Amino acid sequence: MPLPGACASLSPKTFKGMARVTALAVSGTGLYTPPQSISNEELVTAYNAYVRGANAANAGAIAAGKATALVESSAEFIVKASGIKARYVVDKAGILDPDIMCPRLPERPNDQISILAEMAVSAAREALKAADRTAADIDGVLVGASNMQRAYPAMAVEVQDALGIDGFGFDMNVACSSATFALQAAADMVGSGHARAILVCNPEICTGHINFRDRDSHFIFGDVATAFIVERAEAAVGRNSWEIVATKLKTKFSNNIRNNFGFLNRTAPESIGAADKLFVQEGRKVFKEVVPMVAELILGHLSENGIAPAALKRLWLHQANLGMNDMIARRVLGRDPVAGEAPNILDEYANTSSAGSVIALHKFSADLKAGDIGLLCSFGAGYSAGSVILKKQFNA
Ligand code: COA
Repeated sequence: MPLPGACASLSPKTFKGMARVTALAVSGTGLYTPPQSISNEELVTAYNAYVRGANAANAGAIAAGKATALVESSAEFIVKASGIKARYVVDKAGILDPDIMCPRLPERPNDQISILAEMAVSAAREALKAADRTAADIDGVLVGASNMQRAYPAMAVEVQDALGIDGFGFDMNVACSSATFALQAAADMVGSGHARAILVCNPEICTGHINFRDRDSHFIFGDVATAFIVERAEAAVGRNSWEIVATKLKTKFSNNIRNNFGFLNRTAPESIGAADKLFVQEGRKVFKEVVPMVAELILGHLSENGIAPAALKRLWLHQANLGMNDMIARRVLGRDPVAGEAPNILDEYANTSSAGSVIALHKFSADLKAGDIGLLCSFGAGYSAGSVILKKQFNA
């Protein structure tokens, strides 16, 4: 029996990634790429120097069977297993120094913009220009990223201040899916009239949270920032403007990608500096579990919106692993993707967390024609996944 006064249950129908009542658009994108890059060969040389040094230092324990010798990494393995050939980084010297193996970014005084906000602002300026908008047209800033500069104040408020935006800002973290989740949040706010336009930024210094001494994952990430503007489709004037046809988000708990760094670490000082306070993953399990989850999400989302997979002109997928993206594209399209259909930026940028699919959209969308449909999709820790169906508004 329901309690007296209990509400009638919601419709039993499954939730659909709805087409929007008010037409909204991603009206401009921007990208900040750090000037320094590290090739697989450079990274492996540094890692192998660390391995030789550690094994020499532990030679006695290794010979006595009390310690296990570390094994060298290989550039060939990295490119074969992931498709990654290089990555942009904010500090090359620290990462490649076998005694440091971490970016060195001196702390800035509080009256200077923080490094992640600075990267976000750089990408944001490009997005504003592409959308033909100024700060005066924006009412809110969302920073969606895997790792925040600090606990508070929010980076978004700092970005807002640096750009002179009147309104509000807040940060949100859904790991690699932060950009698509922020896109849906921005679309909801503009669609409901809470803002005329929202600036979304995704600054990622992923090299700050990789363990460069871990053979399984030392090659995975790079640094970058992306940004985009969400506004009403009828107001959008950016030449590479994309109507947001529908969005759909999904999360499902998993420990297979995890980082236990956090403000409570100081309450258990014995584990400060342990490997789990940086990025750790079960890469093979992630591959196997996330591919079907994402393919199912995309196919369901297309079907709910009456769009045949064959109608997709492009797939801008999260950039974690080339084999994973080929497999997802194959499941969605029902055939092998042709060159350029699911563009890959992993070779140059590596995994840039939330920014990856937005880089693909930024770099590989201007050639499409008005009315063409494409799909932006993120996936990562949580697990989390976001699907965004986009329709090009204008011919270039
Ligand atoms: N150099 C050389 N060999 C390496 C190596 C390295 N750096 N790292 C691992 N290997 C070896 C392993 O020891 C193993 O050897 P074995 O077969 O003799 O035991 C072999 O390569 C395969 O290791 P495995 O970890 O199973 O590799 P993989 O093919 O699964 O590739 C990833 C690893 C991480 C590239 C891949 O699993 C992946 O990208 N998964 C998806 C991750 C993802 O999407 N994460 C989201 C993060 S946001």
